[in-house]
Amino acid sequence: MKIDVLLGLQWGDEGKGKVVDVLTPGYDIIARFQGGPNAGHTLEFEGEKYVLRSIPSGIFQGGKTNIVGNGVVLDPSLFKAEAEALAASGHDLTKRLLISKKAHLILPTHRILDAAYESAKGSSKIGTTGKGIGPTYTDKVSRNGLRVGDILHDFESKYKLAISRHEEILRQMNYQYDLQSIEKEWFEGIEFLKKFQLTDTDHFINEQLNEGKTVLAEGAQGTMLDVDFGSYPFVTSSSTICAGACTGLGVAPRKIGEVYGIFKAYCTRVGSGPFPTEIFDETGELMRKNGNEFGSVTGRPRRCGWIDLVALRYAIMLNGVTQLIMMKSDVMDNFDTIKACVAYEIDGIETENFPFEIIDGVKPIYVELPGWKTIMTKMQSEDEFPVEFNAYLSFLEESLGVNIKIVSVGPDRAQTIIRYTED
Ligand code: GDP
Ligand code: IMO
Ligand code: MG
Repeated sequence: MKIDVLLGLQWGDEGKGKVVDVLTPGYDIIARFQGGPNAGHTLEFEGEKYVLRSIPSGIFQGGKTNIVGNGVVLDPSLFKAEAEALAASGHDLTKRLLISKKAHLILPTHRILDAAYESAKGSSKIGTTGKGIGPTYTDKVSRNGLRVGDILHDFESKYKLAISRHEEILRQMNYQYDLQSIEKEWFEGIEFLKKFQLTDTDHFINEQLNEGKTVLAEGAQGTMLDVDFGSYPFVTSSSTICAGACTGLGVAPRKIGEVYGIFKAYCTRVGSGPFPTEIFDETGELMRKNGNEFGSVTGRPRRCGWIDLVALRYAIMLNGVTQLIMMKSDVMDNFDTIKACVAYEIDGIETENFPFEIIDGVKPIYVELPGWKTIMTKMQSEDEFPVEFNAYLSFLEESLGVNIKIVSVGPDRAQTIIRYTED
């Protein structure tokens, strides 16, 4: 079997958690392949709401196996809090969550370093989630990291060595911090982690695929936050694109099957960095209010703007998207007209390609489409879609060259419409 991948095409928070949960019944295994607790994946069903950070979104339906892959960075204390909260609500994961021994650990000092680097950047700060993501991936690449498998042998000495390196950096930065207050909780997290199956998930996934099992890889963040292709340096530190599923799980590129690319009917971004279609007036406020655009983890207001087809086409190209999923259609219900950015203008020249110069600011060129002015949240099938909504979908499909297979009309699991489109 091949492994399917679901990932965000914008700046994160597209609704990945919701759709992974919806698709879970069709899979045997759900696996996270990158990122860490910087993610906040929201799921709503039967009147309950859950926000997952490090644990895959496949844990609520049908006792499936879930995997934290080698590409993920794991904070033991946050993981413990997350898993305990789930256990308290009746979802004990110890038997059906596998964690890669090769996943890197977020140390308490990584979190402190994240804050120190941000503060040193002053007004050019990235606006990270403060979870230690950048420093942990930095240590991974510079070959100084500690991995989950390390906790099983002679961990104390490896930990001390890593911490002393970090403390030296913090001393040089003259940064004040309190390590002790977070260290105790962190070590409780390490002990908690030992209750789980810490294993070679790379071998496991390949064996399962060979036996005909189905696997869905769940992306975190979004393509425009990818460390290579996003709006660098205002990006996260992992490979958020489809290729990241290969390196983050240990599957060969030819084993990739469907690639589900997920996007909002508009666009949002949290943290700093370029956002060509951002809206600063009351229309942006209305999007934020209708879409409840506040960070799932940090509560930070998300910046809002029109859909950006230049960035989306780029994301589709990088990921080899085979099916599109459009989220949060209902957020635009009361808009008279809706704009879509079809090209950028740089120094008077128009381009449809996502440029390096994004960082210096580009001028978006828009087309304007009629709004649907209909309440979408109660819709059950695409037969009920208003003409203007269908026109919006057709316009997007034509501009993007890929079919939109799923349309989401509300946060609940049930508010999801699968379309009849042909491949
Ligand atoms: P993720 O990080 O990609 O999983 O997305 P988040 O969970 O951070 O943000 C998506 C937000 O939109 C969550 O609050 C979801 O409950 C909510 N959501 C998902 N789909 C829809 C939708 O179709 N309509 C509305 N109104 N909200 C949605
Ligand atoms: P999910 O999986 C939205 C953003 C941060 C910041 C930048 C770098 O919920 O879509 P980091 O802490 O990763 O070093 O921050 O990336 N960011 C996200 N934005 N959704 C996310 O995850 C994000 N994870 C990181 O706001 O701009
Ligand atoms: Mg999120």
